[in-house]
This record gives sequence, C-alpha cells and structure tokens, in this order.
Amino acid sequence: MEEYKNIYVEEENHIAFITIDRPAKLNALNRETIAELHDAFKENDEDPDIKVIIITGSGEKAFVAGADISEFADFSVTEGETLAAKGQHLLFDFVEHLRTPVIAAVNGFALGGGLELAMACHFRVASPNARMGLPEVSLGVIPGYGGTQRLPQLVGKGKALEMIMTAGMINAEEAKTYGLVNHVVPQEELLDFCEDLALKISKNSGVAIAAAIQAVNAGYKDGVDGYKAEIKAFGSCFGTEDFREGTTAFLEKRKAEFPGK
Ligand code: COA
Repeated sequence: MEEYKNIYVEEENHIAFITIDRPAKLNALNRETIAELHDAFKENDEDPDIKVIIITGSGEKAFVAGADISEFADFSVTEGETLAAKGQHLLFDFVEHLRTPVIAAVNGFALGGGLELAMACHFRVASPNARMGLPEVSLGVIPGYGGTQRLPQLVGKGKALEMIMTAGMINAEEAKTYGLVNHVVPQEELLDFCEDLALKISKNSGVAIAAAIQAVNAGYKDGVDGYKAEIKAFGSCFGTEDFREGTTAFLEKRKAEFPGK
C-alpha cells in the first residue's frame, strides 16, 4: 500500500478505511490531499479483495471543514474554474462512479468541500456532533465540487437553496430528517456501525452492486435514460459468475460465495 502524507488507509475484513489526517486544519482539502485521496480510492477500487470503502476524518471535531481556503484566496477566474473542474474529475465524480460502495462516516464538521465529498459517497452516517453546510456564499463564491447538483438531488431544491443561500449549518438530526444522512450514531460507535453495514454489503455480489451503482447514477445524468441504463445493467448481470453462483446457491439452499467484484 502507498505511503501518504495527508491521509492514511487501513484494511480490515475486506473493508478499506480511508482517514483524512489534517486535524490541525480540520481536515481541509488541499490540492495534495485531493490527489492522495484520488490515488487511495483508485487503488482500493481496483483491489478485488476490498468490498467496501469507508471514509472519515481524523480527530473528534471534523470530517472535512471544506476546501483549503488558503490555497485559492488569490485565484483568477480561470484558476477558479480549473480548480473546480480538476477537483470534480479527480475526486468527487470519481468517488460517485466507483464500482466499490463508499460510505462516509461524518464525524464532525462537513462543510463546503467536506459536505460535497460526503455527498459524492454512496451514502452517509453521522455522529451527533456533525454539522453540515455549504458556506461558500459567505466567502463570495459558490459550491464548486458538485454541491449545487448533489444537495438538491439529496434534499430537494428548496431545502438545498435555503442551505446554500443562508450559508448555515444543520445538525445531524436535521440532516437525517432531510435525508442527507441515513443514520445518526454516537461518535464512539460510528466506525463500528459503518463497518457492520459494510459487512452486510460485502456478503452480496460485488458485481451486482457495481451494476446497481451505475444504474442509479445513470438516472442523474443529463441525456441518459436511467430506465434504459437499468435494463442494460440488469441484462449484463446474467452473464456473470456472480449471477450463476447467487441463483445456484439459492436453489441448493446454501449461502452464496461470490468470487469478486
Ligand atoms: N480551509 C483552510 N483552513 C481551515 C479551514 C478551511 N476550509 N477550516 C478550518 N481551517 C483551519 C483554521 O484556519 C484553523 O487554522 P489555524 O489554527 O492555523 O488558524 C484551524 O483549521 C482550526 O479552525 P478554527 O476556525 O480555529 O476552528 P473553530 O472551531 O473556531 O471553527 C469552523 C470551526 C469549521 C466553524 C471554522 O473553521 C470554519 O468556518 N471553517 C471554514 C469553513 C468553510 O467556509 N468551508 C468552506 C470552504 S469553501
């Protein structure tokens, strides 16, 4: 496994735990951290032994408090556009379209790029101290890592625009009511809870899960018919080893042993 400076990666029970490790800066995403996260996600997605990825922030205060403001404070129009385009390509869109399920364990502040990263994950679990928001307009800018698209998808347009326009933060229980996080669990149980969910997911066909991620994402793409994408992805499952194993195991009244992902 690669050595990183701003993140660390641990592996247990076929689950990769990626931790963003800049607690003194509340795990803010600088350029180097985004590049390291890209590499770590790619490496674990390509590893057939890794069934689920869990991402969290180090320390007890923050998941990620946003993009690193010190890096872009003097950017020009072109540099600003490039920053958003590169970030979306390397990390946010990249994570959303991985074959491997990604769970965000939101252990504190998830602001700006931090909430955008959590929203790019396939689903989210939060601890009670989590505070979530897109405060960019308070800095004279807008969310640039997919926040204007994914927040309305998750919570609806009106709530998303209120959050964006007020630059306010919502707490974990509000986020659960909004559908932004699926569960709220005590901070000391957060990673175990996510691991239990990951283990449940791991028992199922990784190939089918990857097809499901692709079909769900298709529904949010411009110019793509999600129903047609589902039909294609459904059909493709029939040509897989996992499908043969899953259906055979059911008929033989035994537990399926899925080969890979
Ligand atoms: N970019 C760069 N540095 C950041 C940061 C960010 N997004 N968020 C926090 N930090 C740094 C602070 O500058 C501070 O560094 P310092 O100790 O060298 O001065 C350190 O992290 C701790 O943050 P601090 O503000 O002292 O903690 P706090 O508990 O008083 O406040 C927040 C916590 C999250 C409310 C506050 O840090 C904040 O508003 N951060 C920016 C959030 C934001 O606007 N994100 C969107 C960016 S587009």
